[in-house]
Amino acid sequence: MSRPQTFTHMEALTSLSNNIIITIDGPAASGKSSVGRLLAKKLHFVFVSSGSYYRALAWSALQENIDVSQETNILVWLKTLHLETRMNDGEAHPLINQVDPMNQLFEKKVNVLVSPLAASSAVRNFLLRTLRELALGLNIVMEGRDIGSVVFPETRWKFYLHASDDERIRRRTQEGEDDSILERDRIDSTRQLAPLMIPKGATVIDTTHLGISEVTEKIFTDLKDSQ
Ligand code: CDP
Repeated sequence: MSRPQTFTHMEALTSLSNNIIITIDGPAASGKSSVGRLLAKKLHFVFVSSGSYYRALAWSALQENIDVSQETNILVWLKTLHLETRMNDGEAHPLINQVDPMNQLFEKKVNVLVSPLAASSAVRNFLLRTLRELALGLNIVMEGRDIGSVVFPETRWKFYLHASDDERIRRRTQEGEDDSILERDRIDSTRQLAPLMIPKGATVIDTTHLGISEVTEKIFTDLKDSQ
């Protein structure tokens, strides 16, 4: 496997440490997953979309017909659920009871349920543990809503992406998705536990007029400058 060419500082650092965590947070369609995936590929890090774990739980709750309005139902259900991670092309995929639901994670019904479910303390505690365990001993790029603020607040490498509402809606529509992103943003930003926020110490990037590779380059430059 070839080594990253342009990022000698990080290369030097990765030879010394094998638990470098780069976090990318931000609202829906701000570019987190596209940028995170590209950045992870360039650095030969593992890419984790934490949202896929929240989506996998929402998918499973729908499959199992769980009444998620009651926290006790969620607790009982989570006790029976077997969540694992399978690495696929450098990317972490959630498996629920040995099924990979990846192809169904962006269905409308999952889009609708995921943010209300992600406000549950049982779900957040469950995935907090899962995501921290997943990162043990790995160099990773993890993106989500609370990764720099709650999951890995101690990491030095934090980024927060945002873009105008119009641009984010345009991107999601172009992807052919039926997704009320402003409603999800509202729920994610106003929930009591781990709300979406700019993590302390994060570099903020407005991606409204930037392409995926431009944002990735900006992050590279920032990582280099922070050595
Ligand atoms: O890709 P997009 O930004 O639309 O969403 P996602 O990253 O797939 O996350 C789906 C939902 O999971 C978010 O709207 C949040 O409700 C929840 N989530 C969260 O609460 N915390 C995270 N770290 C990641 C996702």
